[in-house]
Amino acid sequence: MSAELWPVTEEFAAEIGDVDLSEPLDDADWRLIEDAYNRYSVLVFPDQRLDHGDHAKFAARFGPVARTIDVDWEDVELRLPPDISDVSNLGPDGRVMAPGDRKLEILSGNRLWHTDSSFLTTPANASLLYMPAIPPVGGFTEFADMRAAWDSLDEELKAKVEGRIAMHSIATSRRKMGVELTEAELGVFRAAPQAMVRTHRASGRKSLYIAAHVGDIVGMDRTEAERLLETLMAHATQRQFVYAHRWRPYDLVVWDNKCTLHRGRPFDEGRWPRDAQRATVDDVGPTCEQEGLAYPAEAAQ
Ligand code: OGA
Ligand code: MN
Repeated sequence: MSAELWPVTEEFAAEIGDVDLSEPLDDADWRLIEDAYNRYSVLVFPDQRLDHGDHAKFAARFGPVARTIDVDWEDVELRLPPDISDVSNLGPDGRVMAPGDRKLEILSGNRLWHTDSSFLTTPANASLLYMPAIPPVGGFTEFADMRAAWDSLDEELKAKVEGRIAMHSIATSRRKMGVELTEAELGVFRAAPQAMVRTHRASGRKSLYIAAHVGDIVGMDRTEAERLLETLMAHATQRQFVYAHRWRPYDLVVWDNKCTLHRGRPFDEGRWPRDAQRATVDDVGPTCEQEGLAYPAEAAQ
């Protein structure tokens, strides 16, 4: 058996099959996956049967696996082990959560275009989302290509954002959904400084690094920052940069947070279980450091 790759789009998404990720991977299969991860940004592995250990073990091939931020929230009972983030609509008892459940409200931020954990100084590299149960209709995940978005950005805007730093906070994206996080919920998650333009290590290509988590842009007043973010978001999420994933049960989808945005699309979440389980891999360090940018001391965490 050896893994096969079938492009879904020319350079953004690909499907990889004929590989069982619950088994140890041979070197040739891992090389194919790693090369594909560096070239494409979204990899779809259909029909995987993974327990939490298999899921985390495969994630570890991409780098250090992060603990879910849920463990930092007080009084949460976890349905999944701490190295798997629960982004489902299921409670600890495995049943669909009641409308208005605080966890659902907080998760609603995933409906806005974002990149994972950019509210942490060292954000996520890969995310691996496994979906053993899906709603029969709706609940897609959309991905936008930030390398293509950068390439096609006009020169004036490129000059405006290159070398700049934006402040990312989970409170900002939640506020945009009308959810005000309490001090206790915010806990250790203060705003993190992120380079707005990154160089993708493996491909050498530049990418735009923005998200719904962005509030302030360093050295810019609030109104100008909001207007710039809106312009960049509108450009970056145009249809031609977007791949919409329609889930099948047992899909595992891996994406590169360094050069993509994603968002979950609505579905009837009070009715259908959507068992979304995510393993998250840390990047190698702060993006400002990677880009050689000094950031103001007050922005340091
Ligand atoms: C995530 C996420 C969107 C979705 O898992 O990081 O944003 O469609 N998910 O569940
Ligand atoms: Mn996400």
